[in-house]
Amino acid sequence: MIDKYNTLQPVYWQNGQLHLLDQRKLPQQQTVIKLEKADEVAEAIKEMVVRGAPAIGITAAYAVVLAAKAAYTISPNHWQTIIESDLLQLAEARPTAVNLVWALERMKAAFANITSNPVPVLLKEAKRIHQEDIDANHRLGDWGAALLPSNCRILTHCNAGALATGGYGTALGVIRSAYTAGKVRQVYADETRPWLQGARLTAWELLQDNIPVTLLADSAAAALMQQKRVDWVIVGADRITANGDIANKIGTYSLAVLARQHGIKFMVAAPTSTIDMNLTSGEQIVIEQRASDEILTIGGQSIAPSGAKAWNPSFDVTPAALVNVIVTEKGVVEQPTTESLVALMG
Ligand code: MRU
Repeated sequence: MIDKYNTLQPVYWQNGQLHLLDQRKLPQQQTVIKLEKADEVAEAIKEMVVRGAPAIGITAAYAVVLAAKAAYTISPNHWQTIIESDLLQLAEARPTAVNLVWALERMKAAFANITSNPVPVLLKEAKRIHQEDIDANHRLGDWGAALLPSNCRILTHCNAGALATGGYGTALGVIRSAYTAGKVRQVYADETRPWLQGARLTAWELLQDNIPVTLLADSAAAALMQQKRVDWVIVGADRITANGDIANKIGTYSLAVLARQHGIKFMVAAPTSTIDMNLTSGEQIVIEQRASDEILTIGGQSIAPSGAKAWNPSFDVTPAALVNVIVTEKGVVEQPTTESLVALMG
């Protein structure tokens, strides 16, 4: 895949295998896992080997190639029926990011009328989805950067970077474009409990590109804003509903409330594959609940008394009213509403 900025690639296809950079091990180890079975890919998505809404969509698209290859070998006449269970398993791997089912629908449309060996056509479609995502990130990165003032101080949350996409990133795409344009004075990144995507991934990814970054505990964001040290909050999204509500990493909603309280602008950067026009508002989004152990332990060590319970939603929903701007590859939507998103999506 071609990324003119040559950022990290969390997902790629090589020698008939799907390669995933194991993000659970970063930044200490850079390990690449090679997969040839669709069910292993579904498991890798669930277990966060690969994560981030666009990256899991791209990964699922390549998994359909693997599924079709195996099924066609078993039965050239019935492979489409055989892969149904793989498609279901992939769709259910993580429920919140719409990019996953969006990519599966693209792949289904691509194989609907194939009667011969499906692999070449499906591989071409998966690669197209991948390249389109990289291109979208460059476009939205430039749109987003154009909105920022010079000397901008930015706070981001989780990892919406090259690692979470086909390459370049969404929120980090905006930061990359703005940094290249000389507009960035400071990037702050929340550590992002419990998976520490901010500390482990965003900080690592930015430093790979020599973009300086300052980490803070999630709970320090309020004080940072109170001290007038942030101009824009920029985040990605896992699903944007038709009215402009945003599901993103748990803690995003707190940042949006805080930003409004302190008169700081709040930007959501996402490709249109993240926009779900089938849901009218954020209340309809299924929020993934993850294991209690992610809260009760750190690095395998218990940090809470035995018997303590934990609530561990992986995402929250930020109401559209708290969003100043959604930036996509198709353009920019200020103060999002259903009307403006319908207009954007055509
Ligand atoms: O649980 P994760 O790491 O998959 O969550 C990722 C996020 O919340 C990102 O902000 C979102 O997927 C956008 S990535 C461009």
